[in-house]
Amino acid sequence: MFMSNTTRILLFIAAIIAILASTVVFAPSVQANPPVQRQLNWDSPQTQALWDRACGDCHTNTTRWPWYSKLPVVSKIIVDHVVEGRKELNLSVATRKSASNIANEIEKQIKKNEMPPNNYLWLHPEAKLTDVEKQALIDGMKMTLQKSP
Ligand code: HEC
Repeated sequence: MFMSNTTRILLFIAAIIAILASTVVFAPSVQANPPVQRQLNWDSPQTQALWDRACGDCHTNTTRWPWYSKLPVVSKIIVDHVVEGRKELNLSVATRKSASNIANEIEKQIKKNEMPPNNYLWLHPEAKLTDVEKQALIDGMKMTLQKSP
């Protein structure tokens, strides 16, 4: 096959651009768990279990990163989501918000079925709470936050 020098150079440049672009697009994002700076005084193991099951992955620094969170592209979506969730509410770090304020926000999100987010539930069916479990989590978080420094 005959290629002119110009074609060769263009192909070479295109290849370099493709390689550079793919390293940006396909590089997995870092799944970091920053240090836990605040320990909660759980009112019961049940509250803790419900919280861990339905909320902890995005609102603490003890995220359980699934295997697919290490896949290219997917990793960016998941990491962004966790970073966003932690920014709104992170029980692993100190906050200036009052316990009742946080507990009310949690109650609102659970009652409106806004949390856990739907796209999380598709991949984590175990995070789905029954009505009884929702109420138990709401009440338990109220007491837990109230007695946590
Ligand atoms: C898959 C990650 C994920 C899970 C699991 C999750 N959240 Fe969230 N949460 C987010 C993100 C992202 C935001 C910020 C964007 C938004 O409000 O949708 C958020 C926001 C919040 C807020 C602040 C809302 C506001 O607008 O002030 C509260 C409160 C909250 N979540 C509570 C919970 C509770 C309670 C659970 C468990 C029942 C839970 N979340 C589970 C990702 C998550």
